[in-house]
Amino acid sequence: MNFSTNELFSIKDKVICITGGAGVLGAELVKAFVQVGAKVAIMDRNIDVAQTLCNSLDKKNESVIALKTDVLDKNSILESVNKVIEKFGYIDVLINGAGGNSPKATTSPIQPFFDLPKDSLQFVFDLNIMGTIIPSQIIGKHFAERGKGIILNVSSMNAFTPLTKIAAYSAAKAGVSNFTQWLAVHMAKEYSSKIRVNAIAPGFFLTKQNEFLLIDEKTKNLTPRGETIINHIPAGKFGKSEQLVGTVIWLLSPAAEYVTGIIVPVDGGFSAFSGV
Ligand SMILES: NC(=O)c1ccc[n+]([C@@H]2O[C@H](COP(=O)([O-])OP(=O)(O)OC[C@H]3O[C@@H](n4cnc5c(N)ncnc54)[C@H](O)[C@@H]3O)[C@@H](O)[C@H]2O)c1
Repeated sequence: MNFSTNELFSIKDKVICITGGAGVLGAELVKAFVQVGAKVAIMDRNIDVAQTLCNSLDKKNESVIALKTDVLDKNSILESVNKVIEKFGYIDVLINGAGGNSPKATTSPIQPFFDLPKDSLQFVFDLNIMGTIIPSQIIGKHFAERGKGIILNVSSMNAFTPLTKIAAYSAAKAGVSNFTQWLAVHMAKEYSSKIRVNAIAPGFFLTKQNEFLLIDEKTKNLTPRGETIINHIPAGKFGKSEQLVGTVIWLLSPAAEYVTGIIVPVDGGFSAFSGV
């Protein structure tokens, strides 16, 4: 066989729907996808940020579009999916990137676990787990009809070993990893082995959702939790969002044709380190 890295890792002309595509990690992926010639639909609840990103990459909106989408609302997803199909003809990839934690579902000296409001816990649980399952149902059906497609979920370090303070987020991300394996088997066995489902588990990337836990608002120094985390990352630093790009492109490319049902840590070694 003759191999060419250009072909092995090419995602050129692939039509990619990315939920949470206006977020810190999502936007980095969107930019990379456009640069390597993919067609992208940014599906995000925050349409203003999504549209600004879209316009900054492609003024004519030929290869990238922004669609106001709520991943917890079936009709909203269906509406966006119909627009993507109208524009690009079909969908090759779904990235379930919408997710996150909330300070209201995080324990602290003034907010013990016993008093965390049900609504806050439910919000985090729904956003991460239902927000992954519902788009997978809708776009997964399109993949079943086409006999091919790729779903990429976004799990977390919490899924391997829960982190302190964030019970709902940890449980939900463990659910995302479990669902990734379940769906990979289901789609391959019931529909087509050309439908692959994987997840990435990013380590610690400084973003809005975790900044309040890692950086002291007043001093801008690391919090004690931030220090503990850095000491537990063999690479010795937080990740930069662009460091997710290579792993994601690999999982979406022909190079990963025989890879399904796995959760890939991108974490500077955090999940491998026992602490000793
Ligand atoms: N930042 C990290 O270190 C880290 C680590 C592990 C996993 N993750 C996961 O990566 C993903 C992206 O995280 P991020 O750090 O870029 O967060 P972010 O808050 O910057 O981005 C999340 C995006 O999701 C969108 N969103 C929220 N609710 C939505 C809804 N109901 N429907 C549609 N869109 C919605 C937001 O508008 C936002 O644009 C999340 O799933 C997060 O849990 C992040």
